[in-house]
Amino acid sequence: MEILAKGGNAFDAAVAVSAALAVVEPYSSGIGGGGFWLLHRASDGYNTMVDGREYAPAAATPGMYQDKGGNVIPGDSLNGPLSAAIPGEVAALVYINKHYGRLSLAGDLAPAIRLARDGFPLDRMFHGMLASREQKLKQWPAAWAVFYPHGRVPATGFILKQPDLAHTLELIAQQGEAGFYQGWLARQMVDAVRAAGGIWSLADLRDYRVKERQPLVGEYHGMRIISAPPPSSGGIVLLEALNILSGYDLGHDSDLMRKHLIIEAMRYAYRDRAEYLGDPDFVKMPLSRLLSPYYAAGLRAGILPDKATPSSMLAPVMDSGPESHHTTHISILDADGNRVAATFTVNFRFGSGFMPPGTGVILNDEMDDFVSKPGVPNGFGLVGNSANAIAPRKRPLSSMTPTFLENPRGLAILGTPGGGRIISMVLLGTLDYFNGGDAASIVSLPRYHMQYLPDVVFYEPGAFTPNDIIGLEKMGYRLHELAPYGNMQAITWDYKTGKVTAASDPRDIGKAEVR
Ligand code: GLY
Repeated sequence: MEILAKGGNAFDAAVAVSAALAVVEPYSSGIGGGGFWLLHRASDGYNTMVDGREYAPAAATPGMYQDKGGNVIPGDSLNGPLSAAIPGEVAALVYINKHYGRLSLAGDLAPAIRLARDGFPLDRMFHGMLASREQKLKQWPAAWAVFYPHGRVPATGFILKQPDLAHTLELIAQQGEAGFYQGWLARQMVDAVRAAGGIWSLADLRDYRVKERQPLVGEYHGMRIISAPPPSSGGIVLLEALNILSGYDLGHDSDLMRKHLIIEAMRYAYRDRAEYLGDPDFVKMPLSRLLSPYYAAGLRAGILPDKATPSSMLAPVMDSGPESHHTTHISILDADGNRVAATFTVNFRFGSGFMPPGTGVILNDEMDDFVSKPGVPNGFGLVGNSANAIAPRKRPLSSMTPTFLENPRGLAILGTPGGGRIISMVLLGTLDYFNGGDAASIVSLPRYHMQYLPDVVFYEPGAFTPNDIIGLEKMGYRLHELAPYGNMQAITWDYKTGKVTAASDPRDIGKAEVR
């Protein structure tokens, strides 16, 4: 709001909020991580996605997380500097500011610098994250000193100051990309990473580039869906599931049948994620086939009206178990109609946990989004194959799904954190918007999820009625209740009434504001 009031547009606001979240929510995202910023420019209707996803260091190899016997070494792709890919967020923010913003980079970064330098009161979520990650962060003295200033988890309300991070952000404000990817800061990061067992080089940082990619566009009963292309799997899985569902009359199906069909659509679409998807600069993917209505019709033919399809009947790829995770999402609409849906991350809570001394920057553990070994699940229980194998300078496959929805009635902007479950959450939100839901309804909707393997339907309390549970179990589904998950941020704009609604997920501490 501060940036918009100063004359900035939605793109400036996205840069400012992304940078501020690096300070106040470093367990979810940060300048040591990366993400996808989906943009809509109102003046000419141009849609684009700024891909600031991390890439693997040049010294990375497909078997780098396996021992001599070919077994995956637990934790190596999740903890410490060896798990960190080369960050893309700074390059993305500088790029968005330069090509789409109205204010100076220093102007967009000013709120983040202020929050880092002057501090802010620790909220209950941050407090909880520090309590849950104490052992992980204790291993890395710089991170420990910043987040546990008196050698213990600070109380809520404690004013947390991050002067090193403020200095790093100031370097970026003054020098742009070079402030992070070259010079003192780059040397500091590379030296620390290598001294602690990592494989970064100065050239890895110097050569990092954002990619501007054409978003995927699909259609569901007259509603247009604009979403993230690879190296995120989000848009493909979302559109493939919607293509499958578009052959049914969900509005007239019973509630149980509707849920059955949605779960089956998730199963087929997530299976193809594991089989085919990876970094488009490295692998050839049958995207037009996956998004073809004929392909969806073929998948539909395999779905029985009264029975769950065992995932083992589909060509095999993986096995898994869900875990806690973190990432962040922002949705922004300005008075000119410019829009941003951005999902970005350091991957798991506090990423790798590693902070190069003197930088204030928590490095990601995004290398875990690659396939360490075909068929062996990653931290989100997702498996894959060679399409998402580790290779030098390759981007790991993501599930982040920043999305715009457009229909004659108006539009919606949405997205959420949640690892592999991001796509099913966005799918349910999309169907809710299609059925007339506003932002509050989209973000609060009870959720359920199926990702092909494990062959289990995960659901939040309240997502299924007792009758749904009996009916789904009778069809052959294995059900598993989870604690509430996700942190969706959504905006809707009704063209006829002019009404804008914005809502932040009631499961978390975010805030939505309309002015
Ligand atoms: N790091 C989670 C994702 O990109 O899907």
